[in-house]
Amino acid sequence: MTSVQQLRANWNYPTAVKVGAGRISELPGLCSTLGMSNPLLVTDPGLASASIVLEAVDSCRSTGLGCDIFSGIKSNPTGKNVDDGVQAYRAGRHDGVIAFGGGSALDAGKAIALMVGQDRPLWDFEDVGDNYLRVNVAGMAPVVAVPTTAGTGSEVGRASVITDEEVHVKRIIFHARMLPAAVILDPVLTVGLPKKLTAATGMDALSHNLEAYCSPFYHPMAAGIALEGIRLVKEWLPKAVADGGDLDARLNMLVASSMGATAFQRGLGAMHALAHPLGALYDAHHGMLNAVLMPYVLNANREAIEDRIAALTRYLNLSQPSFASFLDWVLAIRNDIGIPHTLAALGIDTSRSELVARMAVEDGSSATNPISFSRAQYAAILENAVSGLL
Ligand SMILES: [Fe+2]
Repeated sequence: MTSVQQLRANWNYPTAVKVGAGRISELPGLCSTLGMSNPLLVTDPGLASASIVLEAVDSCRSTGLGCDIFSGIKSNPTGKNVDDGVQAYRAGRHDGVIAFGGGSALDAGKAIALMVGQDRPLWDFEDVGDNYLRVNVAGMAPVVAVPTTAGTGSEVGRASVITDEEVHVKRIIFHARMLPAAVILDPVLTVGLPKKLTAATGMDALSHNLEAYCSPFYHPMAAGIALEGIRLVKEWLPKAVADGGDLDARLNMLVASSMGATAFQRGLGAMHALAHPLGALYDAHHGMLNAVLMPYVLNANREAIEDRIAALTRYLNLSQPSFASFLDWVLAIRNDIGIPHTLAALGIDTSRSELVARMAVEDGSSATNPISFSRAQYAAILENAVSGLL
């Protein structure tokens, strides 16, 4: 079997990706290569004083780079968080961004790097129509992305999800150049992640690969990536949760996460269409929401995806390949890694189901769900997921 020492590679697709244990040591060199002399490291508040961040800052400074930390971001980053980050960037005369942390830090860092060069407000760049044409590309700052969780895949994504606090809506800010110029996938940085977060973020990676795989959009390259991404999650997520120090499992989950975000250029679906409003309204963890919603959404999509899922189960080597065996596998892995079966267990009830259903229909992810669900259908999925009815 390949050991983690051998799992070391440089990939140039979908961007420059440095893969392997200990490769965080290459951070200062990557910053310099991208023309940075004074990067701003954007991270989650919980990581700002952690050794992995302090060591990264020290390593940059020891090679002559300036480097400050900005960590004023919420777990669902807001427009104000991005504005504050832009101010910190300008005040410190920075010339690039190191986005370091979980999905929140990566999304916030990418949005800050976009906004340092714009005169328009953030929401003018929401992923609607051709808003991306408004971006002053020359003003954008370069980004090195360093994920410390394996789920969001934001390090290889071209968008950031930012919460508009005034209306409690998560908006997608998009520009193709928001794809970080360089990425470090170092499994050593993820060993400290607690079991519950390892499980929830890993299920987010699964949901990206799975929704991309089921999307009706014509993009066979992305479908192929999604298929292998799902296989990696099946093989490695239970191991990463069982033993957080298993570097092989940690590295393969980082790769599966990057694959999920690469694959979802093909689109997402109803899991995300529901997880986005639920995250905005209840401030619940995004990966955990997708993990809980997964079997209910699969069931609702069944007639449109049955053949495709049966093909997936043959690739996954499940016994008795079929939609039913895949659903059984999803329920089993959720159970094994400690994901609750209902949204009720996350403190979500049906009192706002009409609002959630309306927001789900309007969410960009609903457009690539295999079935174009109505408000009533989204409300029914939500009610099933609250009560546990499959
Ligand atoms: Fe997600």
